[in-house]
Amino acid sequence: MRRRVALVTGVTAGFGEAAARQLHDLGWHVVGTGRRLERLESLGSALSERFTPLCFDVRDPSACAEALDSLPDPLRAVDLLVNNAGLARGLEPAHQCDLNDWQQMIDTNIKGLVTITRLISPEMVHRGSGTIINISSIAAVYPYPGANVYGATKAFVTQFSLNLRADLHGSGVRVTTIEPGLAQTEFSVVRFGGDTERAKAAYADTDYLTAEDVAEAICWVAELPSHVNINRLELMPVSQSFGAFPIHREPRDES
Ligand SMILES: NC(=O)c1ccc[n+]([C@@H]2O[C@H](COP(=O)([O-])OP(=O)(O)OC[C@H]3O[C@@H](n4cnc5c(N)ncnc54)[C@H](OP(=O)(O)O)[C@@H]3O)[C@@H](O)[C@H]2O)c1
Repeated sequence: MRRRVALVTGVTAGFGEAAARQLHDLGWHVVGTGRRLERLESLGSALSERFTPLCFDVRDPSACAEALDSLPDPLRAVDLLVNNAGLARGLEPAHQCDLNDWQQMIDTNIKGLVTITRLISPEMVHRGSGTIINISSIAAVYPYPGANVYGATKAFVTQFSLNLRADLHGSGVRVTTIEPGLAQTEFSVVRFGGDTERAKAAYADTDYLTAEDVAEAICWVAELPSHVNINRLELMPVSQSFGAFPIHREPRDES
């Protein structure tokens, strides 16, 4: 019997790495991507011949196409695509943000994700089966100060996934968005430009989600019977919930 193939973007850290490990342990052949070759190689040595690394930047459409074209035939029929590669940069208010950070988030979280989806989905539709899991965020739905473009890219991911599901209606291909809340990975180190102390503070004294928690959700969605489609899955640590809308107060000018 043909082994199931999962293509997971961004396996060099965080959710992607944990998902690659868990899917591998469930018997999938995992094609794992990222820009850091040495991380891909060390993940490869920790797993087995059922792991195939692909080193490229999702922001470069020709690099994406070339990398996927380089796969041997048995790995080209992707059963599960996990669009996970992504990042946040900065937490400044919009009018003080670095425009390059905004562009990097748009190029990675939006353009990278749609490039990979466009390259992989036709074969799934042709075969009449497959699962696409897009990693969005609670920031897609709930605004917070400093989320500006990051939250907007994730809102794109959530809505794109729903629209994709509408387009793929009747094709047998499933589409799911997973929207995690606070989770400790390298996410905050990247967000704060390598400032590990500031990143650590984001998780101080709280019981955050782990990469393994999110990977379990990915595996659960992927392993459900093929007639079941989870549309959106939102998860948070118990320690995180909702706040009231802030009201700005200052004496009214009654003159
Ligand atoms: N952690 C959270 O609190 C949280 C919450 C909600 C959603 N998310 C989302 O979950 C996803 C995974 O994040 P994470 O928390 O696991 O972060 P992470 O530990 O920083 O991992 C991010 C992964 O994305 C890859 N990546 C980033 N830019 C890339 C690019 N241009 N080309 C190829 N790969 C790229 C990185 O690989 P290389 O650097 O090797 O390229 C890395 O493997 C992201 O989409 C993030 O927005 C995270």
